[in-house]
Amino acid sequence: MADHLAKDNWTDIERVQRMAKTYTMRYDSVFWETLFSLTNSEPKHVVADFGCGPGLFLVDIANRFNAHTAIALDESSQMLAVAETNLKGLAKLKSIEIRLVNFDTDKIDIESSSIDFAFSGFMLHEVANPRKFVSVVHRLVKLGGTYVVYDYVSGNEEKFVKAMVKNGISEEHARKRYPHMCKHSAADIKEILETSGFSNCQSQIIDEFRAVAVGLKR
Ligand SMILES: C[S@@+](CC[C@H](N)C(=O)[O-])C[C@H]1O[C@@H](n2cnc3c(N)ncnc32)[C@H](O)[C@@H]1O
Repeated sequence: MADHLAKDNWTDIERVQRMAKTYTMRYDSVFWETLFSLTNSEPKHVVADFGCGPGLFLVDIANRFNAHTAIALDESSQMLAVAETNLKGLAKLKSIEIRLVNFDTDKIDIESSSIDFAFSGFMLHEVANPRKFVSVVHRLVKLGGTYVVYDYVSGNEEKFVKAMVKNGISEEHARKRYPHMCKHSAADIKEILETSGFSNCQSQIIDEFRAVAVGLKR
């Protein structure tokens, strides 16, 4: 996977640890303010993170929304092992579901219309067919439920490259990865949610290379 420019090798334990270590920097106060400005604060009983990585967002959102069930989905068993430990240790839940699944090739074995709050963070640019994937998420979300996508977006290559270099990636590699990691604009992500069946879609730019998009299932 070394030459896959949209995604890293997420089975590599160092990269798994880096994802966990950089969580608070990536999910900073601007992100949370944006998320809460776009979603309501009603309790959400079942929360699911598609591409959960180390599961730290799922912990925070489950606690915040008083969820009783958290569903962690990822194709990396290494990520899921860390997510399971974090969910067991840090979240107050009745049920934790850990699902090893590749969204590009596998059927997601979850009951239709069963999720109150679905989320994908820094993941949508990695799936082979975002529209097909988001249509599946739409089927799994309950009527009245929400799907939130948080991802890198296009528009400012220089700022993206600068941020990647700060994280230890070479400038040359960051430039190569920009069209793959920032392949969607905020408007593109909103449009993907709309054409996949979500209503009342909104997107908000967080900074030069990050945005949050939200859709409701009606
Ligand atoms: C950049 S990491 C982000 C992890 C987490 N959402 C976070 O922000 O901390 C992307 C995650 O998506 C998962 N992923 C990427 N493509 C996937 C696919 N096709 N099916 C399932 N999981 C996938 C990876 O294994 C990885 O854990």
